[in-house]
Amino acid sequence: MGKLNIMKETKYSNLYRIIHWAIAIAFLLLSITIFLRLTWMNKYNVAAIIQNYLSGTDQVVSQEQLIDLAKKIRQPMWNWHIYIGYVLVGLFSIRFIIPAFGHMKIQNPFGNKLSAKMKFQKWTYIIFYLCVIVSLVTGLIIELGPKEYKKPMEEIHVLGIYYLIAFIGLHLAGVLIAEFTDQKGIISRIVSGSKKEN
Ligand code: HEM
Repeated sequence: MGKLNIMKETKYSNLYRIIHWAIAIAFLLLSITIFLRLTWMNKYNVAAIIQNYLSGTDQVVSQEQLIDLAKKIRQPMWNWHIYIGYVLVGLFSIRFIIPAFGHMKIQNPFGNKLSAKMKFQKWTYIIFYLCVIVSLVTGLIIELGPKEYKKPMEEIHVLGIYYLIAFIGLHLAGVLIAEFTDQKGIISRIVSGSKKEN
């Protein structure tokens, strides 16, 4: 933590920056898989393309088969959601273990000297972490858990899109506001670090 006149200037260690950017890049890639699934590679869109193509031929394929085919076409792309999901399980495990070794402490929202803005910021992280844990656990149960849990877990898991978009929006806005108000240089510190490390 900063001392005296540099109270507000948090120094980000190499470990902190590596974990931060690994998680950020993984979320970005994960968002791309979700985006593709909801748009270009949406099973109804793909099924409609196949049906449209087949309507010029004498082939007859049922709606069920069309959806099945569409899912098969989407699968190689969607596998990346699952690979990245496992990577995030690894990264967040590291992220939640290292505070025990004095790195990347989870920020405490209960401090009584905190301004309303700081409290909001710290609560945002806590709520985000709780949501991420729910996504990771439900994702793992969908993939590895018993079959009877698949449906209810999927119903919870797909809600992840809402907090994900909300967090990314809030986080980027927050960092930009900090950079242009009272924490000038925060963006370069999280990118390139600083000589004085913590
Ligand atoms: C923080 C991490 C994660 C987030 C934010 C997330 C987000 C999402 C979202 C938004 C969807 C729905 C896409 C749609 O609307 O069709 C989805 C589906 C899915 N996710 Fe994740 N995911 C995460 C981690 C994981 C992990 C760790 C796994 C497994 C190892 C996983 C496996 C799946 C599967 C199998 C589906 C398809 C569910 C279905 O068929 O309805 N996800 N995920």
